[in-house]
Amino acid sequence: MAMLKSLRSRLLKYLVLGSTILVSLLICLLWNSSVSGLPSRSLAPLKDELYKVISPSTYRYILNQPKLCERRNPFVVFMIPVTGEDSKSRSAIRKTWGQDNLLPNVDIARLFFTGQPSEPNTNLEKHLQKESKAYGDIIQMDFLDTYRNLTIKTMMIMNWLATYCPSAQYAMKVDADIFVNVPYLVHHLQNQASHQDYITGSVINDGHPRRNPHSKWFLSEEVYPESLFPPYVSGAGYVFSIDLAKKISRASRFVRPIDMEDVYVGLCLHYLNVRPVFSRTLLPYKNLFEIRRLEYDKSVLNEVAGLCLCVCVRVCVCHYKITKAVYVFTTDW
Ligand SMILES: *[C@@H]1O[C@H](CO)[C@@H](O)[C@H](O)[C@H]1NC(C)=O
Repeated sequence: MAMLKSLRSRLLKYLVLGSTILVSLLICLLWNSSVSGLPSRSLAPLKDELYKVISPSTYRYILNQPKLCERRNPFVVFMIPVTGEDSKSRSAIRKTWGQDNLLPNVDIARLFFTGQPSEPNTNLEKHLQKESKAYGDIIQMDFLDTYRNLTIKTMMIMNWLATYCPSAQYAMKVDADIFVNVPYLVHHLQNQASHQDYITGSVINDGHPRRNPHSKWFLSEEVYPESLFPPYVSGAGYVFSIDLAKKISRASRFVRPIDMEDVYVGLCLHYLNVRPVFSRTLLPYKNLFEIRRLEYDKSVLNEVAGLCLCVCVRVCVCHYKITKAVYVFTTDW
């Protein structure tokens, strides 16, 4: 009898202890989700007038390459936002890391993405048309090409990939002032286990909105009331599996546009419950998407560019194999 009693009291004790732990866990969970500082994932679709700003149906193509991926499955498509005037960067990229047939047996495509200049400029338009005919690598849409419109440009890039190149494996959005170590990038991607919901770059985990109206990155509480940004990848360059182009495009119906394109992509990823992956080497422990000054100066790079296949590539490959970095920041071309 006494034994039964002690068993019962012990059971009771465990029950009380267990439920206390459960309740505190629950409180913790609720507390955390309400003060996490991040937007909720269960969002309603945007109002039409808000979505219109980033909706692909708002804009039309002036120049397009709809057949680029028709008979090929690129391993990586480089999507490089530029302005129309940026012809120097385009030419430098075509001669160096973005050149055709850089790697044997790896299909790599390259596209420059532009909008429209603020002032109509027939000379520039003609020049772009000529360049587009000569290289087949320019996409132009009819939104105003300004810094504040980069989110529109990025969403048009996502939509272009989802529409015209779903057969690719990866895409990389990369700024024109970055020098990409293509051989190392391809090597890194070929060793990837995940082919879906994969996005990597220089991950920023502790971003938060700037509330100072004079800041270049000012974001009002009205547009973004939360105190933190979800993890996002620096806009300098990020690589993603091609399925994400469509998913991010779709997510944008639910995520209010802000004019920081990399944070905006991060918000879409948060909505999709996809975490950007940090890429590192172990020995030494280093960020693969490292941004730093290129060791050669501009004139040297331009000089070797013409001899790229035999000189620059050898030099770059050796050089970058040692540094194990995917991209390196350069000054303007
Ligand atoms: C962005 O592009 C749209 C469409 O061309 C234009 O109406 C708007 O003024 C641009 N916004 C900025 C801030 O440049």
